[in-house]
Amino acid sequence: MRVARRAAAPHLALSIYNQCGRCGSTRLPAAPAMSNERRTKVVIVNTPTNRFLRACQRLPVDHTPVWFMRQAGRSLPEYRAVRERHSFFAVANSPEVCAEVTLQPVRRLGVDAAILFSDIMAPLVAIGLDIALVEGTGPVVAHPLRTQADLAALRPLDPDHDMPAVRETLGMLRAELAASDTALIGFVGAPFTLAGYLVEGKPSRDFVRTKQMMFDQPDLWDDLMRRLTDVVVGFAQGQIAAGAQAIQVFDSWIGALGPREYARYVQPHMRRLFDGLRAPGLPEVPRIHFGTGTASLLELMAEAGGEVIGLDWRVNLDEAWARLGGPARVAIQGNLDPVTLNASWTTVQREAETILRQAAGQPGHIFNLGHGVLPSADPATIERLVRFVHEFQA
Ligand code: CP3
Repeated sequence: MRVARRAAAPHLALSIYNQCGRCGSTRLPAAPAMSNERRTKVVIVNTPTNRFLRACQRLPVDHTPVWFMRQAGRSLPEYRAVRERHSFFAVANSPEVCAEVTLQPVRRLGVDAAILFSDIMAPLVAIGLDIALVEGTGPVVAHPLRTQADLAALRPLDPDHDMPAVRETLGMLRAELAASDTALIGFVGAPFTLAGYLVEGKPSRDFVRTKQMMFDQPDLWDDLMRRLTDVVVGFAQGQIAAGAQAIQVFDSWIGALGPREYARYVQPHMRRLFDGLRAPGLPEVPRIHFGTGTASLLELMAEAGGEVIGLDWRVNLDEAWARLGGPARVAIQGNLDPVTLNASWTTVQREAETILRQAAGQPGHIFNLGHGVLPSADPATIERLVRFVHEFQA
């Protein structure tokens, strides 16, 4: 399990700020009860050198950081080889294999961050729900949740007991990624997107049963959303405690709602979720808030939480960033159309360049796709794109 692409230059800075050992974020030291002697002492700390973590904090970077949603997975032959021998959850539950699959894209592509190999349904499986990830279909739920009685299946997740393999995997990954100064991202699914699978029982286009519950049984809906929020907060807290340096919240299917529905039925739960990622004793890691079809929801999503907002490709990056207050207010991640990777290199280069020019080298842009890498994407094109983003000069 070797990853050594870039050597990390030790980057020490003189500062009066405390630095968090996990995420590299700096914080003002607690003021009270310092003797004069302590007060004048200069503390040597290091600001984050990893350009992904720096961009999350809107700090200047040498080159635009880049990683890809779904960078581990079926686009990589080395992933398909592992999956020939192990089922999806066998991979996710075996720390050695899970760490290996997480590192595959880091080695091959030279991205600035690794994302834990898991699935948004994993915490639900961890609390005992019967869910299969069916090849070519997606998550299939044996007993869809539709009544108050069904919700009893959604017990809270205990980060100390319900996710030992995930925690061990993250510990192994932090140790392995330190040499190349690559950041480690953890993630969870957002409650609306998870509810979509749990209520429908399978992937859906229109979310008819889900929205029916939302409209006609708002109390049941809020109970479902509250319970799902508790599960994902527990799973995210466990990942942060075990070494995840950033958390991405995937609300992949939230674009099914308009702004009024979002504000009433989802936003209060998302606020609670983002608040839950800040807890006493946990490092303050950057929170990335991502969804697709979100052109009419971006302001409401940003209000709910996140230091970084993930954009899909249906918006212009510069316009969306300006709507959210620009680099003074928030960092932005995105937003190349994933299908671009199936087009010619000339197209990839042109579209990537457009995005980089829209971001204009301002602090706080993380290059990514507007959604996940498709299984049909050519890894050679993805690797070339990483080099292009890193070498780009405005
Ligand atoms: O980004 C990464 O590299 C980490 C891996 C990752 C997976 N799922 C692995 C996976 C991540 C971040 C996810 C999140 C996820 N899962 C989301 C949010 C991101 C998005 O794409 O919107 C969603 C909606 C799911 C639900 C899900 N799980 C789907 C739609 C599928 C694909 C079904 C298919 O076969 O096309 C899955 C299964 C899944 N999760 C696979 C992988 C690599 C493929 C299954 C396999 O390898 O057998």
